[in-house]
Amino acid sequence: MRYSFVLFAAAVAAALPPGPKPKPDADGKYTLTAPGIKAQFIPYAATLTNLFVKDKDGVERDIVLGYDNTSYYPVDPGHPVYNAIPGRYVNRIGKGTYTIDGVTYHTELNDGPNTLHSGTNNWSFRFWNVTDATNDSITFSIYDKANSSQGMPGDIEASVTYKVSKNTWKITIDAKSLTAKSPLMLTQHTYFQLDAFANPKNRTIWNHTLYAPTAKRALVADQNALPTGLIANISKNAIDDFWSGPHELGHASGNAEFESHCGNGCHGYNGALAFDDKRNKKDVALTLSSKWSGIKADLRTNQDAVVLYTCNWNDGKTEFKNTQGVKGQDKFIPRDGCIAIEAQDYVDGINHPEWGRLDKQIFGPGQKYHWESSWEFGTI
Ligand SMILES: *[C@@H]1O[C@H](CO)[C@@H](O)[C@H](O)[C@H]1NC(C)=O
Ligand SMILES: *[C@@H]1O[C@H](CO)[C@@H](O)[C@H](O)[C@H]1NC(C)=O
Ligand SMILES: *[C@@H]1O[C@H](CO)[C@@H](O)[C@H](O)[C@H]1NC(C)=O
Ligand SMILES: *[C@@H]1O[C@H](CO)[C@@H](O)[C@H](O)[C@H]1NC(C)=O
Ligand SMILES: *[C@@H]1O[C@H](CO)[C@@H](O)[C@H](O)[C@H]1NC(C)=O
Ligand SMILES: *[C@@H]1O[C@H](CO)[C@@H](O)[C@H](O)[C@H]1NC(C)=O
Ligand SMILES: *[C@@H]1O[C@H](CO)[C@@H](O)[C@H](O)[C@H]1NC(C)=O
Ligand SMILES: *[C@@H]1O[C@H](CO)[C@@H](O)[C@H](O)[C@H]1NC(C)=O
Repeated sequence: MRYSFVLFAAAVAAALPPGPKPKPDADGKYTLTAPGIKAQFIPYAATLTNLFVKDKDGVERDIVLGYDNTSYYPVDPGHPVYNAIPGRYVNRIGKGTYTIDGVTYHTELNDGPNTLHSGTNNWSFRFWNVTDATNDSITFSIYDKANSSQGMPGDIEASVTYKVSKNTWKITIDAKSLTAKSPLMLTQHTYFQLDAFANPKNRTIWNHTLYAPTAKRALVADQNALPTGLIANISKNAIDDFWSGPHELGHASGNAEFESHCGNGCHGYNGALAFDDKRNKKDVALTLSSKWSGIKADLRTNQDAVVLYTCNWNDGKTEFKNTQGVKGQDKFIPRDGCIAIEAQDYVDGINHPEWGRLDKQIFGPGQKYHWESSWEFGTI
């Protein structure tokens, strides 16, 4: 009887083209799987909650930050935008102001003297709609009314599609500003810890290795992590050098400059590197790896820059997930315990016409914004 029920259910499933759509589990998570990868998502902020890949010994590791409790994402006061889609204009807007066609707009100052992630009502604080789901992909959509975040003109329609295939997580973001020209710059704000906090000796990110062979320029920033306008060439072995060869993230930690490299009280990285404009976008732009787990992650992207943030502001009081760490040890994430890698356009490019990024950051009716990246995982 049980067997015939199973056979019957299987027959029904097979008859439903194109197959039953995935449903969220009791925690509200949607699970996508493909060989070598399992990824889970929730509609809140279009967030990736878990990403499982195999380490060098074949052990499955959850290599991104997040919470076990999916209901905690909306109420977390720290709101680190764990693996979310902030928008409609990610990162900083200098002095909370910019001008389009002679009109000056004022955005909310929520990060010292600047705007971060578009201020109040930003996209990483909303429940997105699930508009499509298959076994290996899910699409979340958002409709953002003009001025829903203060100082942002134009109704925007956007969607993100996450898809998994063998060892790979692909992300595609499309957006249109329907009624007026608006700043538009997006990213998937992914926080990695390739050891899943299971290295019993060390939970910091400093021994992860980064290689970005064409990232030879850095956007010089002030004490509030706002670009000054200067784009510097990175010389070999300088603090920002991840181009001349694979370097550990802690490679410059002996250097006095390292201690305030990302602003007041901020050591390590929270800045943007620019890729070579002429690089082949089908090539790997950046590789993150860890000797301990042996996991490596290759980023391909159509974006021209990447922001790296080495989790300086983690206060040691928040915990990682039950899918991470070592049984019997505490679960606290230390300062410097992770790295956010955010492929995007040049930070605050709307205020730097001299960079020539306006047509990549301001979109009006009839124009299409398209962002895509993929992470391919393997072992070293
Ligand atoms: C999706 O996964 C379910 C459960 O594993 C399976 O029954 C179904 O056939 C799959 N559908 C497709 C289109 O692969
Ligand atoms: C999950 O988080 C929500 C929101 O903070 C809280 O109300 C709930 O008690 C939490 N659940 C568990 C099991 O901790
Ligand atoms: C985003 O919007 C929320 C809700 O309106 C607000 O509490 C939060 O401070 C904003 N976050 C940022 C980084 O602007
Ligand atoms: C989701 O769809 C509903 C119905 O169309 C709409 O009212 C709501 O604003 C949408 N949510 C988002 C985040 O766009
Ligand atoms: C946009 O919102 C802000 C604050 O909510 C308000 O002061 C301003 O007048 C609004 N602008 C427009 C054009 O509606
Ligand atoms: C972890 O490794 C980093 C880099 O070598 C080092 O600075 C730090 O002190 C280590 N932490 C612990 C707890 O051993
Ligand atoms: C960076 O190097 C290029 C040549 O490779 C040069 O044209 C440019 O002026 C340099 N920029 C700075 C800020 O020194
Ligand atoms: C970890 O990183 C530190 C700082 O970059 C370096 O001194 C040390 O040798 C590294 N340890 C290992 C095991 O690679």
